[in-house]
Amino acid sequence: MNVNELNAIAKKMVAKGKGLLAADESTGTIKKRFDAIGVENIEENRRDYREFMFRTDEAMKKYIGGVILFDETIRQKAKDGTPLVKLIEQAGAVPGIKVDKGAKPLALEPAQTVTEGLDGLRERLVEYHQLGARFAKWRATYDPTKPSYNSINANAQALARYAALCQENGIVPIVEPEVLMDYDNDIDACERVTEWVLKETFQQLYYANVALEGMILKPNMVISGKKCPKQAGVEEVAERTVKILKRCVPPAVPGVAFLSGGQSDEEATAHLNAMNVAHPDLPWALTFSYGRALQHAPQKAWSGKAENVPAAQAAFTHRAKMNSLAATGGWKKDMEKAA
Ligand code: 13P
Repeated sequence: MNVNELNAIAKKMVAKGKGLLAADESTGTIKKRFDAIGVENIEENRRDYREFMFRTDEAMKKYIGGVILFDETIRQKAKDGTPLVKLIEQAGAVPGIKVDKGAKPLALEPAQTVTEGLDGLRERLVEYHQLGARFAKWRATYDPTKPSYNSINANAQALARYAALCQENGIVPIVEPEVLMDYDNDIDACERVTEWVLKETFQQLYYANVALEGMILKPNMVISGKKCPKQAGVEEVAERTVKILKRCVPPAVPGVAFLSGGQSDEEATAHLNAMNVAHPDLPWALTFSYGRALQHAPQKAWSGKAENVPAAQAAFTHRAKMNSLAATGGWKKDMEKAA
């Protein structure tokens, strides 16, 4: 393992004012997004959609440090035959790959999940590196209404084994433990479980010899469950999130890049901005690795029609720019109205 090389990749991914585009929806997940805009889920449409995103010059060159891809996309070529990976590289961003195989019910504890995908991972990472991937992603999920040490520990061990395999193969692991925001829990429960999950995850990363300098953490924000009647405000989410990160994430980690997790586009931006405004001196870059909160707007604008591509690219550029500003604490609400 070359820690300096891994560290250089990680730093490039989260360079000042840059974040990550999570475009790694599986074929099943992108179907849900396409259904919402009336687009048929066929390979050509998936290719066309990703191609216009990766060809959005301003967004990709100025605001996006890396793109997470799904297995199909990393092998796909643009209409003119250029590999999609090349488009990302040409824009100066780092191509990455989702390698986990999803969260499955935990044996004898089916209300809990453990993310699978370790079998054969070493060989898959070798191939993905050849295809151009320089970072990877593995996501574990947790239900904050019924935390379980068995699930937190099993997921942390899997995240650590995945991260070690990535580093062995010259790939920066994005370690993504996600406390879900889909339930009726209050922000206190999210805070407690997030702290527990992060503590256990970093403990297992240590046991697995993972170099913290060569990884990126992709956590949830500390936030109220979507179905909770009492919703914490922007400042509270920002303060509690930073408090827990300070308790759990060693300064050696180059970047913390949040998932959006079902927040509205503007909430995801406002929360990130509030953290960077109040805490300009954090030891890690605090940025975004959004899927939905970067892609809702362009998907809607596109709706599967070639003539809408310029409008969809403009929508993507706007969201990417707003989140880039939030990553340096320079976003303001009235910038949204000006769009
Ligand atoms: P969301 O921002 O839509 O939560 O997606 C990020 C991601 O990569 C989830 O694994």
